Amino acid sequence: MKIKRLTRFWLVFLAPVLWPVAGHAQADLALTGANTNEMEKRIDELVSQMTLEEKVSLVHADSKFTTAGIARLGIPPRTLSDGPHGVREEIARDSWRPAGRTDDFSTAMPAGICLAATWNPDVAFQEGETIGQEARARGKDIMLGPGVNILRTPLGGRNFEYLGEDPLLAARLAVGFIRGEQSQNISSCVKHFALNNQEFQRDSINVEVDERALREIYLPAFKAAVQEAGVGCVMGAYNQFRGQHCCENDYLLNQILKGEWGFRGLVMSDWNGAHNTREAALNGLDLEMGTEKPYHDYYLAQPYLEGLKSGEFPVAGLDDKVRRNLRVMFATRAVDSNRQRGSLNTAAHQAVSRKVAEEGIVLLKNENHFLPLDPARIQSIAVIGENAVRLQTHGGASSEIKAFYEITPLQGLVNRVGKQVNLTFSEGYRKNGDPALAERAVAAAKAADVVIYVGGLNHDLGNDCEGGDRTSLKLPYGQDELIQKIVAANPHTIVVLDGTMVEMDAWLDQVPAVLQAWYSGMEGGNALAGILFGDVNPSGKLPATFPRHLADSPAHALGNYPGTNGVVTYQEGLLVGYRWFDTKNIEPLFPFGFGLSYASFEYTNLVFTVTSGDPGVAVEFGIKNTSAVAGAEIAQLYVQPVNPGVARPLKELKAFKKVFLKPGESQFISLRLGPSAFAYYSPDQKSWVARPGDYKILVGASSRDIRLQDDFKLTKSTRFN
Ligand code: BGC
Repeated sequence: MKIKRLTRFWLVFLAPVLWPVAGHAQADLALTGANTNEMEKRIDELVSQMTLEEKVSLVHADSKFTTAGIARLGIPPRTLSDGPHGVREEIARDSWRPAGRTDDFSTAMPAGICLAATWNPDVAFQEGETIGQEARARGKDIMLGPGVNILRTPLGGRNFEYLGEDPLLAARLAVGFIRGEQSQNISSCVKHFALNNQEFQRDSINVEVDERALREIYLPAFKAAVQEAGVGCVMGAYNQFRGQHCCENDYLLNQILKGEWGFRGLVMSDWNGAHNTREAALNGLDLEMGTEKPYHDYYLAQPYLEGLKSGEFPVAGLDDKVRRNLRVMFATRAVDSNRQRGSLNTAAHQAVSRKVAEEGIVLLKNENHFLPLDPARIQSIAVIGENAVRLQTHGGASSEIKAFYEITPLQGLVNRVGKQVNLTFSEGYRKNGDPALAERAVAAAKAADVVIYVGGLNHDLGNDCEGGDRTSLKLPYGQDELIQKIVAANPHTIVVLDGTMVEMDAWLDQVPAVLQAWYSGMEGGNALAGILFGDVNPSGKLPATFPRHLADSPAHALGNYPGTNGVVTYQEGLLVGYRWFDTKNIEPLFPFGFGLSYASFEYTNLVFTVTSGDPGVAVEFGIKNTSAVAGAEIAQLYVQPVNPGVARPLKELKAFKKVFLKPGESQFISLRLGPSAFAYYSPDQKSWVARPGDYKILVGASSRDIRLQDDFKLTKSTRFN
């Protein structure tokens, strides 16, 4: 192993190079830190002036998305809104019906899984900042996102909203997003804490998971949101964990979140996710939301007030809840009302939405450089598939957006090549559609030089939609057969898939190019056309493993989805996603971290730099763009323990970096691994432990495309929380 050793003196000198400081200033939410004394004093004063009734009024809803203010004390009402993809349309005060307004359009960002596929925390910051600006313009105080639940099963109905299967990737993107959003005097609300990994029986399913998997897989993104991004709010999940609903779960809320992690913001329930006054009062819930009229009948309202009066519940507990609510209000300047001004749907906002799409769309296959297409050499393109014209941003339930506009794939192609190339459109399939659609599509395919098929999933219940899981990994509506027929008619067929992962065996070998477009937001069609015609070089990589078949993925291989008798036991433990496929040596369809570019990259010269007194290591290497086009590469660093002595996944992602390189350009990359990169959670010691010993450090272009590796000996043992 090539190791450079540095002394402390050099450490000071080189620090900015070796330890790239997080790209953005700490978020504006001063829940902790130096300026908090003044704020805490004001909060104490307010609390001392409140009646019991006033205090209780601050810990529950007074409509679907608002809480009451206390006018005599200058405490304003609060307005909350979904969600992770932009500011949702206005919902009626007392029902789920849209309010029917005309001033509630907003910029629709690509779905969370597309953001995750960018592997770019700076882009996540920009997205959060943009949504924060729009939230300000729409008069919101708290935005209900990001969603960071780990993708455990490919069937999870909300996988599209979340940030993939890896805790580190999800954490880095969540931190970027929250810092951006909170920089706008808006509180983010990271959700759903915790283990909301399926929609099947989501209100009641009891999740049993061992302590290590809880800590190592399911909690890190939440912990980073709290400790690194200073998130103001955490939303409890609907499901139960170890027999107690997550919105009232003493272990999760009191012990871990507020105790161990020191969270000082507020915990709110998911909508109607509280179940019991006593548990809500005592187990860490600070704000009950999502109830129905009359709001004062619910758990943290009148029944709580009565329990406080009778002495069943301590007033100190209520005061703590009130303080947490006020803290978020002060930190977002809701009380002083000198807040950031908002803006809606500016050109800059549209550009951010497009950028997320351009960086998140993943090129999965590109045989013989079939893409990018050269419009000068093509006379006709048959665009086929319902998703070429389907509006996707206003779907999927709570994360849906009433977009100012939405550029569909067909519109994007018309915008890009409509004047040069003869474009035809044929629907091809439709839910309960008739076979004539397929016949017409095949005829259109035959008549064209190239086919661009745009299919995949949509946001209907049973596809990618809140409230239910998918029932199969296969493409719906007979699309496998349709694609086969189209390819037989025209082998120059590019397949573009919306949605989360699907099986592709039926046709993958027969098509030259495949793109995973997820749900790419209101600029998605322009982004896609840009990639197809080479204006944009694809740079997204998969944030989750695509299994060849459902039975290959852990929850299904072990038969522990969706659970029995209301309990789902995560028997795969730590082996979620690529951790399972790698450890069990199962070939995925496309591995975690995979994605092609029109450029090619060379990795060179792996060096480890150890500095005396520092328990970690700086891993340095070079990346060169060896092609004639500019492009971006996402270098991924995995750590593989050698004979670890405790159960560990074969390897785990511990750092990554997206680099943009001109043709022929090289860049030196330095990624620091601290003790946490080597640590596992020890339930016995109730802390993280990095054991001295041998580790392999693997650097590559995906989890299955390791380009550089070397052995590293960790000499110090470290324990931390
Ligand atoms: C969802 C949350 C959402 C809330 C408010 C719930 O059904 O689980 O993610 O924020 O509704 O719309």
